[in-house]
Amino acid sequence: MVKKIGVLTSGGDAPGMNAAIRAVVRTAVFNGIEVVGVKRGYNGLINGDFVEMDARSVGETLQRGGTILQTARCKEFREIEGVRKGIAKAREAGIDGLIVIGGDGSFRGARDLSREGLPTIAMPGTIDNDISCSEYTIGYDTCLNTVIEAVDKLRDTCSSHERCSVVEVMGRGAGYIAIEAGIACGAEVVLIPEVPYDLQKDVIDVIESGKKRGKKHNIIIVAEGVGGVVELAKVIEEKTGLEARATILGHVQRGGSPTVRDRVIASQMGARSVELLLEGKSNRIVCMQKSDIVDVDIEEGLNMKKSVSEDLIKLAHQLAI
Ligand code: F6P
Repeated sequence: MVKKIGVLTSGGDAPGMNAAIRAVVRTAVFNGIEVVGVKRGYNGLINGDFVEMDARSVGETLQRGGTILQTARCKEFREIEGVRKGIAKAREAGIDGLIVIGGDGSFRGARDLSREGLPTIAMPGTIDNDISCSEYTIGYDTCLNTVIEAVDKLRDTCSSHERCSVVEVMGRGAGYIAIEAGIACGAEVVLIPEVPYDLQKDVIDVIESGKKRGKKHNIIIVAEGVGGVVELAKVIEEKTGLEARATILGHVQRGGSPTVRDRVIASQMGARSVELLLEGKSNRIVCMQKSDIVDVDIEEGLNMKKSVSEDLIKLAHQLAI
């Protein structure tokens, strides 16, 4: 029977992580279990950097971006010695179950902790939406809203100057942010790492044919996995005669108050994680499938495949005429 659980955030932060922490803490308290916050991801587990939490410690955090527990990427935890050190510190503090909020790197740590005997549940928190076993990751919607707000502003100035704006968005090796932002902002071209592109056919010809149909400015969204926006802007200017400017949106995409979708899904996933520990489960990822909150084995989850929807790729192209 679980009596005291730990919760940590790991990897890149994402809006909604605080809503997830809050749901974990309050669900635990509701069920009479003690909760400890682990600071700075797996580093805090290895170093015993723990803070007792109660329902009040998570007051007024639901609307805040970032993570109140801080986060980090921890190299030491990739080795089994690091995992064992973490388990020893957890045991010393009486922690008998752990909840990890993060991306797939963090899930590997959660799997290793489970294998080494500390019941651990993971949930997907990353703006990239690149977790294969889950349709949705906490932070994605807020990130998309930040991106479209910025790109709408870029379109204003782009339209005034009759320019081309080449915008790099985050997403690590995946194009989920780029494709949805591209549709939501009416981008003329969206470049994602999943689909190789031909500069002449997919960019220059699209801009030239748009010109003939009366388009005076263009928005090109480029996923960071494709990169090279500064060079691309130069080539566009040279080949089309249209003035072009590059913008890298960067870490602004990771901040901000979470949207309703992120707050609600983070709350659902956080509560479900605690319930799983109470049911005696371990080594599970809480995720979204067919709009339901479900859970899968971590190893199975890590081996699943997901890809950017072909329909969305076609739609982005079709609506850009
Ligand atoms: O995984 C989230 C993310 O923001 C990616 O989109 C990006 O590639 C990476 O993290 C940036 O990491 P860092 O904050 O370490 O620069």
